[in-house]
Amino acid sequence: MSYPYQLKTFEEYKEAYQKSVDDPEGFWGDIAQHFYWRQPWNKVLNWNFTEPKAEWFAGGKLNITENCIDRHLETMGEQPAIIWEPNNPEDRVRVVTYNRLHKRVCQFAQVLKNNGVKKGDRVCIYMGMVPELAYAVLGCARIGAIHSVVFGGFSAQSIANRLEDAQAQYIVTADGAYRGDKVIPLKDVVDDALIGNKTVKKIIVYTRTRLPVSMLKGRDVWWEDEMEYAETQVEKEGVVSCPAEVMDAEDPLFILYTSGSTGKPKGVVHTCGGYMVYTAYTFVNVFQYQPGQIYFCTADIGWITGHSYILYGPLSVGATSLMFEGVPTWPDAGRFWDIVDKFKVNILYTAPTAIRSLMGFGLQPFDGKDLSSLKVLGTVGEPINEEAWHWYDEHVGKKRCPIVDTWWQTETAGIMISNLAGVTPSKPTFATLPLPGVQPVLVDENGNEVEGNNVSGNLCIKAPWPGILRTTYGDHERCRLNYFSTYPNLYFTGDGALRDETGFYRITGRVDDVLNVSGHRIGTAEVENAINMHAGVVESAVVGYPHTIKGQGIYAYVIFSGGSHDLELSKKDITATVSRIIGPIAKPDKIQFVKGLPKTRSGKIMRRILRKIAEGDLQNVGDITTLLDPAVVEDIKNGRL
Ligand code: WTA
Repeated sequence: MSYPYQLKTFEEYKEAYQKSVDDPEGFWGDIAQHFYWRQPWNKVLNWNFTEPKAEWFAGGKLNITENCIDRHLETMGEQPAIIWEPNNPEDRVRVVTYNRLHKRVCQFAQVLKNNGVKKGDRVCIYMGMVPELAYAVLGCARIGAIHSVVFGGFSAQSIANRLEDAQAQYIVTADGAYRGDKVIPLKDVVDDALIGNKTVKKIIVYTRTRLPVSMLKGRDVWWEDEMEYAETQVEKEGVVSCPAEVMDAEDPLFILYTSGSTGKPKGVVHTCGGYMVYTAYTFVNVFQYQPGQIYFCTADIGWITGHSYILYGPLSVGATSLMFEGVPTWPDAGRFWDIVDKFKVNILYTAPTAIRSLMGFGLQPFDGKDLSSLKVLGTVGEPINEEAWHWYDEHVGKKRCPIVDTWWQTETAGIMISNLAGVTPSKPTFATLPLPGVQPVLVDENGNEVEGNNVSGNLCIKAPWPGILRTTYGDHERCRLNYFSTYPNLYFTGDGALRDETGFYRITGRVDDVLNVSGHRIGTAEVENAINMHAGVVESAVVGYPHTIKGQGIYAYVIFSGGSHDLELSKKDITATVSRIIGPIAKPDKIQFVKGLPKTRSGKIMRRILRKIAEGDLQNVGDITTLLDPAVVEDIKNGRL
């Protein structure tokens, strides 16, 4: 397979970019031809940002799994699609060829059908990083069921909220998951999530850890039994391989929940055609993937990075994607380098938080590891600081691998602003230039476009790209309000950015009330709601503060009335509450009990002030004269209760 749409020089990039702006339909129509469609589209793009509406390849029919699997079988059937490295390095590696992937995905798709799943049904997937997770995701796509993967670090309550929002009737999970020296009891968590739930009909449970689990008659079934039965159907009923459901380009492919600045997480919806074209195009261009290369993305499939750049993007172009079950620091901090050496990895895609945490272990973990196979490095998820960038460049890439700093979001489906490895210029800490098809603009607080270079503002996008979110599940108005109403006729990203003298973009971080903790998006409102559920908490306010490893830490100011309790212990109780309500990833790093919160006369909490105090910048809290009670600021600064 070769990639006719792979850009090879800066000149080619500039040309492609220009074409994508002048004639987006021609541009994306040409690229989309290189995929397998059951029926061609009538119109490349219909859109407006007022409803909002974005329809790509309308009238086109396809199944994304035929593009990710079937079409590679003839020429690359025996090539590895997924190489799986288990949590424990002593355990057996699994190599899933495209032939094998085809067999397993069809088999699991049949299992889903046997259990009553139909096109359009929502299937919640809560699993660790095992190949069966890939089979589950692709099995859903095969029959047109909408998958909603929930990251294994979320709590029962978070799963319950997502099940409820998506009205999901099916769950695929495992008895447990291995992560470093921990075993996570996934099925137990799911069982807790189902207390009071009336919609879920079937749970398919894969056996990974052999933790004892409760299996309810009529509701819970074992993955292994179901797969075995599906296999015998081939003989008994003559089911050859589960045929791919023919989908409209705009049929939903999946829902993925993500945090915003208000309320509960939103279910971002992506559809089949545009998502496929966009993830494939960006994968091939940003990483400059060459057929046969080994590509390793360290993300979890529970996040968008795993959806787009472990599964759909790489598989749609016949790549070999390495999937790792464990964590970077177990059994020791050399684990990534062991993996690179063991499989001769060519492309490594990870997050700044992982780099920063590994930096803390010094250079010893590199001893004896051969990293010479590496050709391209990538980062994603949060702004990368200069020090981490240089460390990555020097010690991992040995100064001979381009680093792609890829900016994008759950809502964008794929990479939006990034250099193309070795093709367009890079600059430390800068995502640099937009991909073809992406038209970024910076706007000031009045919504006016900031033109020229050497400027900063809020980052918006002017026109749709094939991966743009289509809606938020079950609530289109929420989608409009969140992304398309702040600035008329623009998609608002929630990020701030600056554009340097050459027009390169640097993303400076969220400008809304969304935190980015270790590359995970968490809404301050969500954490506050969880804290407020703890007995004795009167009110709370949560802000982010700079954290050397996590990027941002969570700082919670809490008005607490449970005065007779030991205060230090109460802080631990509050942390436990947050862990129970959202999940361990949202636990506050610091809790400060306060008498009052700085509020304006209209009752709005002035987070700007709280942020300054959390940063330790006590001198620069700014104007506090508009506060209802300016004295609270001094009390908070002094830690007075
Ligand atoms: C942040 C992850 C700076 C940003 C793919 C965005 C980044 C949020 C970068 C989306 C980057 C992602 N440089 N910031 N290269 N990549 N971000 O939805 O704030 O989990 O809005 O998607 O991560 O997080 P999400």
